[in-house]
Amino acid sequence: MTYQYYQTRESAESYIKVAKEFDGQELIHHLGKFLQKGSTVLELGTGPGTDLEILSQSYHVTGSDFSQHFLDILIEKKIQNELLILNAITLEIDSTFDCIYSNKVLQHLTNDELLLSIQNQLQILKDGGIVCHSFWAGTDSYEMKGTFHNYHTIEELEDWFSPYFKIQFLKFYDEMEKDDSILLIGQKR
Ligand SMILES: C[S@@+](CC[C@H](N)C(=O)[O-])C[C@H]1O[C@@H](n2cnc3c(N)ncnc32)[C@H](O)[C@@H]1O
Repeated sequence: MTYQYYQTRESAESYIKVAKEFDGQELIHHLGKFLQKGSTVLELGTGPGTDLEILSQSYHVTGSDFSQHFLDILIEKKIQNELLILNAITLEIDSTFDCIYSNKVLQHLTNDELLLSIQNQLQILKDGGIVCHSFWAGTDSYEMKGTFHNYHTIEELEDWFSPYFKIQFLKFYDEMEKDDSILLIGQKR
């Protein structure tokens, strides 16, 4: 897929403004039921760094994004976390983690790319490691501003993750409207 949006300083700054009102506090609250404090977490698509800050209150978090512009903005803000340029599909990294977290990031992957990402996540998760990902709920997929958006159903996420992960939590939650989003938490089998 082509990923033009997010790949300029201007669009990164514009996304940060739009996303100002939103954070993953509720998701991280649920994650806390399955992940011990002090665990290592790799965040995919860190973007503005809002969830990175919340996660860092309990975990040792590495931030990552495939857009250098978001990372530059976080570096300018003197964020102390390790930050990596990383594609959520290929996940080319040598380290392993107790948890991989993303908030509205894997929505930018096609179904095939998501399946590839799931396989690659397995490789960089420690035994018994946790995945915690949010998605937009629905059946649409479309391209806007050069960026692909892919909505998912609970059933398809269960089909794709459950061969590799024991599903611990898979439910709708409200982001902008009732039940417009899905949170999935799974443990590596
Ligand atoms: C909708 S924003 C979400 C940002 C942040 N997680 C939040 O909750 O505000 C999507 C983020 O994922 C990043 N992203 C999109 N596709 C990616 C990919 N294939 N690999 C890594 N990051 C990606 C974008 O650069 C952007 O920071």
